Amino acid sequence: MNYHVLTLFPDMIEQGLHTSILGRAMEKGLISLSTIDIRDYSMNKHNRVDDYPYGGGAGMVMAPGPVYRACEAAKAGIPEGRRARVIYLTPQGKVFNQELAKEFAKEEDLIFLCGHYEGIDERVLDMVVTDYVSIGDYVLTGGELPVMVMIDVISRLVPGVLGNETSADSESFENHLLEYPQYTRPEEFMGEKVPEVLLSGHHANIERWRRDQSLLRTMKNRPDLFEKVELDKKDRGFLERLKAEEEKAPQRDA
Ligand code: ADE
Repeated sequence: MNYHVLTLFPDMIEQGLHTSILGRAMEKGLISLSTIDIRDYSMNKHNRVDDYPYGGGAGMVMAPGPVYRACEAAKAGIPEGRRARVIYLTPQGKVFNQELAKEFAKEEDLIFLCGHYEGIDERVLDMVVTDYVSIGDYVLTGGELPVMVMIDVISRLVPGVLGNETSADSESFENHLLEYPQYTRPEEFMGEKVPEVLLSGHHANIERWRRDQSLLRTMKNRPDLFEKVELDKKDRGFLERLKAEEEKAPQRDA
């Protein structure tokens, strides 16, 4: 996977992504990162990349020329015949999630375009962008943090990046379930014990307990996801027992 990031702050991207798991994946050649400084394509004697908005209003707008030329430069770095998607980070885009990450992880190249100020001239967006993506319903000062989030999420899905190939399967959002709780030594911490079943060595019981915990967490924290979970007979049995127990227990908030 080769990432190409068009930005006014290349240092921010480089410094943010060269450490830990992603740094190692880059050393191994599993992923690569190139940043393109949009300002290098300004052609203005003061290196300006923004201008006042037509029609008035607050803030500045990134001009189309530098963005277009920077994008052409990124495309020139990709072998001919390999068409890369161009992703523009904007709160107006489709909201990023694990499913979209899986789709992007199948690509060989991804070009990301980071906006700043009040945005980018619409004409160049129409010309170059293939995907408009938001990382959530809030507004950041620019696209750099969203790009870092996306690259982190997508890279974990590139084969070989996570040492343990199975660890991407049992985690949150697989089958619309949140991940179960994890514990490590010591067996007792400030009086709190690790759940007994995890010490039992009984794999089937451990798996059942983990599945039940995932169901419970998803139901409590993310009812929107829980609606999509495919429940089997054992799941339904667990949920029925839970409901019966809750009905028996005294109502604390009543
Ligand atoms: N730029 C500013 N806010 C953003 C968001 N929520 N997602 C993606 N890009 C953004």
